[in-house]
Amino acid sequence: MDPKQFIEEAVAEIKKEVGDKQVLGAVSGGIDSTVAAILTYRAIHGQLSLVFLDDGLMRDRDRKDVENIFSSLSIPVEIKGVSERFFQELKGAIHHDEKRKVFQKVFYETLGEIAKTKGASLLLHGTILTDVEEVERGIKRQHNPNIDPKEFGFQGKLEPLITLRKDGVREVAKALGLREDFIYRKPFPGPGFLVRMLGELTPEKAEILRKASPIVEGVFKFLKPFQVFPVIIGQATGIRNDKPFYGYVLGVRCVKSIDARTAQTVEADWNTLNTINSCILREIPEVIQVCYCLTDKPPATIEFE
Ligand code: XMP
Repeated sequence: MDPKQFIEEAVAEIKKEVGDKQVLGAVSGGIDSTVAAILTYRAIHGQLSLVFLDDGLMRDRDRKDVENIFSSLSIPVEIKGVSERFFQELKGAIHHDEKRKVFQKVFYETLGEIAKTKGASLLLHGTILTDVEEVERGIKRQHNPNIDPKEFGFQGKLEPLITLRKDGVREVAKALGLREDFIYRKPFPGPGFLVRMLGELTPEKAEILRKASPIVEGVFKFLKPFQVFPVIIGQATGIRNDKPFYGYVLGVRCVKSIDARTAQTVEADWNTLNTINSCILREIPEVIQVCYCLTDKPPATIEFE
């Protein structure tokens, strides 16, 4: 694939497909939604509205990446604070299937409502060929290919990257002039902390994961993992300041993998494990115990929910 030619053809195709309609796209800070948004903006400028749904389940860096990249390209993105709505709707949901189902419904209902205010009838998705294949094979349980935009008030969807795999998207991103560190960003799941939090979702648990994510990513960076992240496993009794304390148990998952179909736990050395233990306990007083997750995929999955 010649990325410059792909960009030219994609821009022409988007123009043709959109005509005089309005389009709404949600950007997440990931490379696929970012590249899809930039190509679409090149094609139709003001007919595209972009939003970042700040649902309370993303890391700080996801929002920062969105703000930095799009402001450097002078492409407007609205940040929509919708976390209260998400936590409210997810209240009481414990089972992982239910949590994912409610999340998906609230996410697309929110987009449908925003689309109405913009007069947008098309939903922009950064779906790539790998997503379609992974959903078919059951590797990814929740992804764009599962969404019927008509259920949420749209006439249809626009998927300019549907013929590409990740390496193709990276080439296009390079040709668009995006930063190298962004292009090789590690995957972060769409439902964010939802898949890294056992039991009910609460703002307190999300805040712990928001604080723990950069710590864990920083300490394990030198091991060049495929993914490394914290996960809230549960709660346990402990002792803080000589008093009984009921705190959170934080798991650290660090895996190597080629394509996420299988994954192997990174054999971290004791010094690294001690460092992560003491950093987490020092920086996040709500956590009383840190565990390192040992199990490969299969039989485990990479994420927890
Ligand atoms: P699992 O947990 O199934 O994850 O071993 C395989 C890869 O997919 C990512 N993942 C998701 N990505 N939406 C996404 O966009 C999701 O619902 C989702 N679930 C898992 C996971 O981070 C890993 O890279």
